[in-house]
Amino acid sequence: MNFISIRWPGDGFFFALALIPIQIKITAPYGRHTRSNWGLMISNRLGWTLMEVVSLIVFAFFFLRGDAEKTTGSWILFALWVAHYIHRSLIFPLRTHTRGKKIPLFIVFSAVFFNTINGFMNGFYLGELQPPTLFADHPRFIVGLVLFLLGAALNLYSDTLLLRLRKPGETGYKIPRNHVFRWVSCPNHLGEIIEWTGFALMAWNLAALSFAVWTAANLIPRALSHHRWYKAQFPDYPKERKAVIPFVL
Ligand SMILES: NC(=O)c1ccc[n+]([C@@H]2O[C@H](COP(=O)([O-])OP(=O)(O)OC[C@H]3O[C@@H](n4cnc5c(N)ncnc54)[C@H](OP(=O)(O)O)[C@@H]3O)[C@@H](O)[C@H]2O)c1
Repeated sequence: MNFISIRWPGDGFFFALALIPIQIKITAPYGRHTRSNWGLMISNRLGWTLMEVVSLIVFAFFFLRGDAEKTTGSWILFALWVAHYIHRSLIFPLRTHTRGKKIPLFIVFSAVFFNTINGFMNGFYLGELQPPTLFADHPRFIVGLVLFLLGAALNLYSDTLLLRLRKPGETGYKIPRNHVFRWVSCPNHLGEIIEWTGFALMAWNLAALSFAVWTAANLIPRALSHHRWYKAQFPDYPKERKAVIPFVL
């Protein structure tokens, strides 16, 4: 048990850091960056459901079967994780306008790997190893909860604005112009990073910190790639707009 509690979340953390240079160099080929030379492809919607539902199942399984005393705090974390992944795996794919679009199977497998490790580490830690000191009224927990909810709202809102850019049947890209897009190209990615930073503050363990770092290591390079892509595609792309952190990056 000690081995798992100390080594695995820590290993996940360092693995996340090690991935940063690879993710800066290689832009994962899905969405606007899809390329057909990455082997077998499957439907984009099916790919999203397959890769994200793993997080839901693995996390819930290890959380619910674990012997640790479940506090109000751990149940709140469970509810937030489950709500996020029900949306991401079952609702979000149905809302996308990606008729006919494909995703490489390799990307789906990579994401399944990523989501299995993170779902396991977080579910197992909270379900099995969490000491009964996770208090929902601790100031750090409350600050984390506020961050999580703000991040989730920003993520959902900006994804909704992006999804509305396409009329039924369209699959191309337009410049998102208003609201949060005035400041950054990828407010949805910023929201997701804030969300999991909040979760890490609430949970206050290495598994959750590792997931927050992993998410940032994944989404900051992706947002930079999106930003470069917009500037290359649209000569009139707003010059003052940043990629992911307003006024900074
Ligand atoms: N936790 C993590 O590590 C992680 C990793 C990846 C993604 N995510 C989350 O999953 C969600 C989707 O990620 P993503 O990288 O696919 O986001 P994205 O590239 O911003 O795309 C989001 C959706 O909007 C469409 N879209 C984007 N820009 C558009 C534009 N300018 N005009 C018209 N339609 C546009 C995309 O269509 P296309 O698919 O056709 O491009 C896609 O359906 C985000 O909320 C992200 O935060 C989380």
